[in-house]
Amino acid sequence: MENTNKRNSFGGTLGFVLAAAGSAVGLGNIWRFPYLAAKDGGGLFIFVYLILALTFGFTLLTTEIAIGRKTKQGPLTAYGKIKKGWGFLGPIATIVPFLIMPYYCVIGGWVLKYLVGFVSGGGAAMAGEGYFGAFISGGLMGGIWQPVIFFVIFLLMCAFVVIRGVNKGIESMSKIIMPVLLVLVIGIAIFSLTISHTTTNEAGEQITRTGLQGMAKYLIPDFSTITLKQLFVTVMDAMGQLFYSLSVAMGIMVAYGSYVKDDANLAKSINQIEIFDTVVAFLAGAMIIPAVYAISGPENMNAGPGLMFMTLPQVFMQMGIAGHIIGALFFIMVLFAALTSAISILEAVVASLMDKFGMKRTTAALAETGIALVLGIIVCFGYNLLMFDIKLPNGSEAQILDIMDYVSNQILMPILAIGTCILIGWVAKPKYAIDEVTKNGERFGRKGLYNVMIKFVAPALLFVLFIQALGVNFF
Ligand code: PHE
Repeated sequence: MENTNKRNSFGGTLGFVLAAAGSAVGLGNIWRFPYLAAKDGGGLFIFVYLILALTFGFTLLTTEIAIGRKTKQGPLTAYGKIKKGWGFLGPIATIVPFLIMPYYCVIGGWVLKYLVGFVSGGGAAMAGEGYFGAFISGGLMGGIWQPVIFFVIFLLMCAFVVIRGVNKGIESMSKIIMPVLLVLVIGIAIFSLTISHTTTNEAGEQITRTGLQGMAKYLIPDFSTITLKQLFVTVMDAMGQLFYSLSVAMGIMVAYGSYVKDDANLAKSINQIEIFDTVVAFLAGAMIIPAVYAISGPENMNAGPGLMFMTLPQVFMQMGIAGHIIGALFFIMVLFAALTSAISILEAVVASLMDKFGMKRTTAALAETGIALVLGIIVCFGYNLLMFDIKLPNGSEAQILDIMDYVSNQILMPILAIGTCILIGWVAKPKYAIDEVTKNGERFGRKGLYNVMIKFVAPALLFVLFIQALGVNFF
């Protein structure tokens, strides 16, 4: 019998690191990082991202994990325990995963659909013009219910793992999935670099493009055309990406931190989580950019969100027989990445429900799964029955999914992160987090940096990011 008063915990540090890395490594690493890197001039973006990861990302990740382990509470109740009067951050930290869960699982369902398609030999159809649009709008077999079915299967997989618990569910699964994921990304990236593709250009001449040339475009910054505006955009893009990629400001790292044993070395674990997340993002670029460059051409490298479901299937089909296999392996990998992230979102909500209302794990997980089920179906219908003509402040068209993404990522997450920086930087003082990280006498090398970042730099950067999301143009 499950005892609600006894907190689950990770069996070991490795399990914690892999589970947290599993949360961090997700769809963001695989399609968003390469896409932003291609858009913002390759090497420059990577350079800026690395610097921010070591300073800004490290600060936020350390803070949340320390809060979790110190308070031993899920996000809903943790903040109020640090300081009376700051409990209001709890509901924000719980609404974020609550909002993200349904649409993240809808996208997880799309990934599952493409995996099933490639495995069953349907790659060519999926590479066809308009296939993805037909799928989400309900133009394929099963109509509007097909995307719903894939979404529900994905959601139930997450519920299954979370119900099994932190140690037997999340940790055991991450220990298998994360190493496999790493091997797959490395393998596909190496394959990508060996590609050589010959086509005819508009002038009728034969041209050959290689994966290695694409890799050079990905890595080598072109400083000759850089403007101040472009630098600013790159910094903002890199920061927004980092923030999302590390799964901070959504209660998740607080929840996972609360399951870490008191004798674990947090400083070391945090470094490992960051390295894992950054390496996979970098490799995802090395996997996608050279292949798209060589086969589809430089003009398609920043194809945006359509990259994963439209451009890449076409790229795979150009590879001949090998493409079916690479396509299937690619989507297995993406499915793994999406699953471990979605599970962490569900766990953040479940932890909150258990700690605040004393619910049993199974009850909490089923309750949240039921709500996500209803909201997710609404998100699926956003591409057919419930399509509206709505625009975001940046002018792009939005469906229900984009609106939920905008509210959670661009509005609530920066507010929560700024609130957390003020709470720890000024109210509870940085010592609160530093003492937690070093409580067994561990070395914490970037202490001085942490102090400055949490008090001044991180909140200031977050504020600029937030203002920009509201539609203010700095240039
Ligand atoms: N960090 C994940 C990624 O990079 C995204 C994520 C979002 C994870 C929300 C959990 C919750 O894709």
